[in-house]
Amino acid sequence: MKVEKATKIIRNGGIAAFPTETVYGLGADAWNASAIAKIFEAKGRPSDNPLIVHVSMVDEIHAFAFDIPEKAYQLIEAFWPGPLTLVLKKKPEVLDVVTAGLNTVALRMPDHDIALELIKQTGPLVAPSANHSGKPSPTKAVHVIEDFGEELAVLDGNSTKIGLESTVIDLTDVFPAILRPGAISRKQIEKVIGGFIEESFFHPLEKPKSPGQKYSHYKPKATVRWLEENDSTELPYALYLLQNTTLTAHNICVYNGNLEQLAQELYDRFRQADLEGYKEVLIQQLDANHSLFSALNNRITKAIGH
Ligand code: TXA
Ligand code: MG
Repeated sequence: MKVEKATKIIRNGGIAAFPTETVYGLGADAWNASAIAKIFEAKGRPSDNPLIVHVSMVDEIHAFAFDIPEKAYQLIEAFWPGPLTLVLKKKPEVLDVVTAGLNTVALRMPDHDIALELIKQTGPLVAPSANHSGKPSPTKAVHVIEDFGEELAVLDGNSTKIGLESTVIDLTDVFPAILRPGAISRKQIEKVIGGFIEESFFHPLEKPKSPGQKYSHYKPKATVRWLEENDSTELPYALYLLQNTTLTAHNICVYNGNLEQLAQELYDRFRQADLEGYKEVLIQQLDANHSLFSALNNRITKAIGH
């Protein structure tokens, strides 16, 4: 599949999947309500969960957002293109299907040649992760095909570099708040805009600011749990994701403290566990000082299911 073909499909009101640096997205024209409806239908996505608008040029944000604070420009300067999504006040013209009726809109510029080339041709695209709702986000084209079959147009960009969805930060309140942790950490953000940034995803029982938080994403069929000290590492139906160990076996993946690699492979491992019939995925505790800790811990905790 070539970018030109995906461009044609999207211009004709269809949907197509494309790689980004985080995960694969399922794209539709951000100004075409019936095309966007196809995304919700294909994914089985609840209609109260809003979408991220993906742009290829910074100026495009003005078609969607207004009253943009200085902090937003500082973050754009520091991190775009890249895995940071900004929630801003939305213009009235923005379609309700994009924002699920909220008065805010989420925007990001992906750091991926294929994604940027596509968006240059089509204009801004809404793109949720290209998975069925409740399945792990896709980090390879084959994952998208697993979920949607061969009929869906997919641009293949090999494995995605980061493997976890973008950091989402809300800039519409007096104090900015991180709604979803990602590869851009709170510390990195604080360095750019100063002050203390709240991480509101730590309160899953409160009414979430970001509707996506209330849904149990990232859930494989296998039971996911943290490895306990006294666990035997020879359970026959378990896949082990270990931070550091000298053990070797075919079902043990060792990351030697390389959390970038764990993040990159995590969803693929979840899918592998399902395909190969592992009953459990056991994950060794993460280094809490690592910049990916928050994002990884969030996804793994959700996969564990509480
Ligand atoms: O890395 C990513 O962000 C990927 C790639 C494809 O770009 N996209 C992605 O989209 O993860 P999705 O739809 O799976 O997740 C979007 C998240 C959801 O949690 C949603 O609730 C939140 O962003 N969101 C979207 N618009 C929002 C808004 N106006 N206010 C608060 N949260 C919003
Ligand atoms: Mg998703």
